[in-house]
Parts: sequence; C-alpha cells; structure tokens
Amino acid sequence: MNYTMCWLEYRKLPENTISNLKDWFSSVSILESDASALKNEIREFSEKSLDITPRFHSRPLKKKKYIMIGSLDSLPFGIEEDPGEEGFILRTQNWNGSKILVVTGKTKRSLVYAVFDLIRRIRLGEDIEKMNVLEKPKAKFRMLNHWDNLDGSVERGYAGNSIFFKDNRIIVNQRTRDYARLLASIGINGVVINNVNVKKQEVLLIEPVYLKKLKRLADLFREYGIRLYLSINFASPMYLGGLDTADPLDERVARWWREKAREIYDYIPDFGGFLVKADSEFNPGPHMFGRDHAEGANMLARALAPFGGVVIWRAFVYNCLQDWRDYKTDRARAAYDNFKPLDGKFDDNVIVQIKYGPMDFQVREPVNPLFGGLEKTNQILELQITQEYTGQQIHLCFLGTLWKEILEFDTFAKGKGSYVKRIVDGTLFGRENNGFAGVSNVGDSVNWTGHDLAQANLYAFGKLAWNPDEDIEKIVEDWIRLTFGDDRKVLENVSYMLLKSHRTYEKYTTPFGLGWMVNPGHHYGPNPEGYEYSKWGTYHRANWEAIGVDRTSRGTGYTLQYHSPWREIFDDINTCPEDLLLFFHRVRYDHRLKSGKTLIQAMYDLHFEGVEEVEKFIRKWEELKDRVPYDVFERVRERLHTQLEHAKEWRDVINTYFYRRTGIPDEKGRKIYP
Ligand code: GCU
Repeated sequence: MNYTMCWLEYRKLPENTISNLKDWFSSVSILESDASALKNEIREFSEKSLDITPRFHSRPLKKKKYIMIGSLDSLPFGIEEDPGEEGFILRTQNWNGSKILVVTGKTKRSLVYAVFDLIRRIRLGEDIEKMNVLEKPKAKFRMLNHWDNLDGSVERGYAGNSIFFKDNRIIVNQRTRDYARLLASIGINGVVINNVNVKKQEVLLIEPVYLKKLKRLADLFREYGIRLYLSINFASPMYLGGLDTADPLDERVARWWREKAREIYDYIPDFGGFLVKADSEFNPGPHMFGRDHAEGANMLARALAPFGGVVIWRAFVYNCLQDWRDYKTDRARAAYDNFKPLDGKFDDNVIVQIKYGPMDFQVREPVNPLFGGLEKTNQILELQITQEYTGQQIHLCFLGTLWKEILEFDTFAKGKGSYVKRIVDGTLFGRENNGFAGVSNVGDSVNWTGHDLAQANLYAFGKLAWNPDEDIEKIVEDWIRLTFGDDRKVLENVSYMLLKSHRTYEKYTTPFGLGWMVNPGHHYGPNPEGYEYSKWGTYHRANWEAIGVDRTSRGTGYTLQYHSPWREIFDDINTCPEDLLLFFHRVRYDHRLKSGKTLIQAMYDLHFEGVEEVEKFIRKWEELKDRVPYDVFERVRERLHTQLEHAKEWRDVINTYFYRRTGIPDEKGRKIYP
C-alpha cells in the first residue's frame, strides 16, 4: 500500500487492553446479510490492533461475552430509544445468559457508523463493559465536494492528482474503498466527485459511457453509506441533447432532463443528485435565458424528484467583470442580493449551498448574511477544506477553529440563539434538507492531504458536520490520538500547533478581515495589489491615509443585510469586531484600536508575531522527533520550514507595502524590508 490510513491506521494496542478485548472480538454475531463492510472493518481492527482473527456468526451465540451487530428489526429483543435514520446505539447489557455489546441502528448506513464509532471509542480507551451510547447526526447532508477533473487534475488541489479520475477515465480500486472507509468513519454521507466548473469532458459524465463505471463507484460507496452526486453543466441539453436552448421553462429542456434523470437512476438507483454552479464565473445558468435561479433549480429538481434526488444550487453568484472604478457594486452583497428575493420559491428538493462568507474562503470573513436571511429555503453551509487561501497545504493552518466560530455565530434571525449551527442542522427554521459541504483537500499523495497535519482538517470537517456542538479541542485531541497514538508530548505539542495555526496564518498574511492580497490566479503568496485593478471585485482601495471598503449603511449598505444587533454593531467602527474591521470599514492608518495601538502599528506587530509563532511551531515539532513516524516527521518538518520562509515573505511584503504607502515607521524600530 503506497498511502497511509490517516486516523484509521490501526496500531497494536497495549497488551493489558488487548487481553480484555480479545474475548469480545473473537466471535462476533452479525444479524445482517450483506455486511461485508462491517466484517471487513472489524477484521482489520482485530487483526492489526488485537492480534486475533474474529469469527463471524449470523445468529446470537451462547458465549459469556460477545458483540452482536444488527439493525433494530433483526435484534432478538426490543430497544426503546429511536436513533433516527442514521443514528446508532452501542450498549453493553445482559441478555440470555450472556453479556453482549449491542451495536444497532435502523439502517445499513447507521450500522456502518456504529462500527466505526465503536472502534474509535475502543482505540481512545473507552471501557467496552460500560458502553452506553446513543448518537445521532445533527444535519442530514454531510457532503464532500471534490473539484476533480476527468484528466486527473484537481482545481485548487494541493495533494497530488485526483483519486477518482485519470486520463479521462474513472478509477475504482482499493484506494477508493479506503477513501470510503475514511469518510464513513467521520460520518460523511455524500460525495460530489467532479469539479463545480463542468468543462467539456466532464459534461459527458452523465452519459452512458461514464455511467457504467460510475455505477461501480456508487456500488462501492453504498457499502459505506455514501451517496454519489455529480456536478452538472446547466447547458447540457445543448451540449448533449442537440437542443438550441437550455431555457428551464422550455418544455423540451425539461423533458430532456427528465429522461436524463431516468437514465442515471437506471444505473444508480440511489444517485444523490446534482450540484450546480450556475450563472457564476462564466458557467451557464438560467440568467442566460432570462430566468431566475429558482426557475432553473426547480426545473432540475422536478426531474430528480420522482427518484428521490436533490438539486444543490450554489449561491456563489456575483459580477466577476467589475470595473475597479465602480464604487457602487460590492461583491460582498451579491449572494444576498441574488438569493434573498427568491426565499420560499425553491422546491423542497432544492438546497441552496452558501459559502461561509460573502467573498471567497478568505482567512477571515464575516458570516454570509444569507444565513439568517433565508428562512424558507433549504441550506447547506459550504466550507473549504482545501487550503486555497490558507496556505495550500504547505502552511499549517487548521481550520476547525475558524469553522467552529462560524457555527457559533448568532445570526439573531429569530432572536438570541439563532446560531448558524442551528440553521444548518435545520432546527431553527424547521427544515429537513440542510447540512454541510466541504471542498475536499484530498488527492493521491501518500498522506492524502499533502501536509500530514492537514488530515486534521478533513477529520474535523466530518466531526463538526455530524455534531456542530462538539468541542473543537476534543476533536483535535481525538484526531491526534487516533493518528499518532497516546504519547502525551505529541498530544500537547500537536494540539498547541493546530489550535493556534489559523490565527497565526491570519497574523502574517491579511489580518483585520482584509483578505486577498494574494497572487492572482494561483492564489499563493503575497501580492498586495494583485487583485486591486482587476475585474473580480475584491478591492481594498488603500491610499496614503486609509484602507478598506466602507460597507456600512453610509457606504455600500452591506451591513444592512444583517439582523440587529449585528447591523448596528458592524456599522459602527467603535463596536465592529476588530478582526473584521477592514472588511466593514474604511479606516485611517492612525485609527486607535482598543489596545491603544494605531492600526498601522498593530499591522506591523501582527506580522512580526505571526512569523515568531511559526518559529515556535518548528520548535514544538522538533521536540517530537522519534515520537512520530520518521517519514511523517520529515515531511512535516520540511513543510514547516517552507512555511517559515514564506511567512517571512508575507511579513516583509505586506509591511513594506504599508510602510511605503504611509511613511509611518514601526514604533519599535524593527527593520521593514524593502
Ligand atoms: C474560487 C476558486 C475557484 C472556484 C470558485 C468556486 O473562486 O478560486 O477555483 O471555482 O471559487 O467556488 O466556484
């Protein structure tokens, strides 16, 4: 095997633990037919961690202790609690003269989750004799979006090539299965395998030439409770159907999609549905035909509805041909301006997928005001696991802490307590079809994610999607222990590094909600005016005295898209959270912050601090030599050193930019490099 298994790397457990567990795992009763994924996982774990090969039985046993796995219907006794469609129960109890650990749930998928969770708990040292767990996922949709192209490249991918595609062919192999295992172990239940930008070759994915192989992929995913989804091109009826239009209100177009849906479901009966990037960054959409997003999405949704599919429609819609001299258009307003008027107009099997912020996955943005703005529309929160703007998996940047802040943001849509997490889990507005999507950071590199520690981002995404209330420190701790074992020093140092890393990255790049300042195109490395005079609408408009866009009620009016009290808080430079100051306000460099520092001085200080923190990460990592596997140690060490070099470059380029703009020297007399 030429890749690691991340947090599923089953290492041998200590002897004293093993001796107790052996009894439990030597015979396992599985009351399900077709349980190969469950057996496979239990066997893997038992052989690698317990040094035994379990025997499987299809009936209850006569034995002192054993594990009994089966759906609620199949159990020889009743269980009162309702774990829902995807939840599960793990419980040790006495039955028929035996002590049994019951592993149960309603559906096949829930049993998969149950088995992975049982193994996780055991590896983390929980006592099997006292097991008593009822777990239910909070959100219904817990998806990964791959931006993979059929030629094997990955848009914004920093971990090698696609694991799904190569040379216009679809790959289904052992690695696909192992990927499904990784995803099932963190509760992911849907995967979009191709890029939202659906180009010429990818348009063909919904044609029989590809559907045959996609069926095999879907069959494999199904064993692990994962549904397959595809990104589609809205103009497919023109590309594939020979029609002269893709107008959603044209009956020929609607019929073409209905027939296409039937064809897809003939191959894949549990096909999840379509992800659509429409009228966005040159992708076709209903606007081209004078129709709105609801008309476009509903037409597709009606084609999929008879088969139980959904349409996931992205809200990432803005004018990407803005003139920098145009001060009226504000890209930050675009998602809300486009979608708020359509609230309530989408069919029930349409879900609007909204990026966490109003711009584009910057290191910090305010929460997109569509969260709390939309009340009668299903919603998915889109997060970017791949580190496009956060160091491209060269820099250590754990995103779980940022995501947690987003989830805990109180929108005040229905008064206090209207958290984003309660919107995406569907409870705030009583909606069922809500959830999470994460743009995947996975490729075919040996460690899946390029940077070994970036595996933690994938893990944390799944865990938060399953339960956004979970403590992020606990998620980090579990990930470290599952990945590296129980060394206290490793736990201490790696959690220090992960939990601080996002803030550190923010400090040496673009603090105060400034964002951008990256090199255009590939988005790596500093370039303060890289996007200043281009068409993408991402300006900071710095001059000699001030920087930032006035997005208040006196400016573009963006703050008015929020509920009170946020609109007032953001609107006032004195109450606006300082880490978002330059997102909402145009601020003079000599503006005094709460700390008493001027903005410019704080800007300098943060950049120096950020670099010092990376130096500290390196010291912390060096302490772990011989405590983590040698190859992991070396790979991470190398990346940390590159990070340090690049952090210095960020510090110097950004500080110099401000120094030369303002002529205001650093109070501490440090050298600001040319
Ligand atoms: C960003 C990213 C693109 C991507 C787009 C999207 O702009 O740079 O590569 O296609 O987001 O989310 O659609």
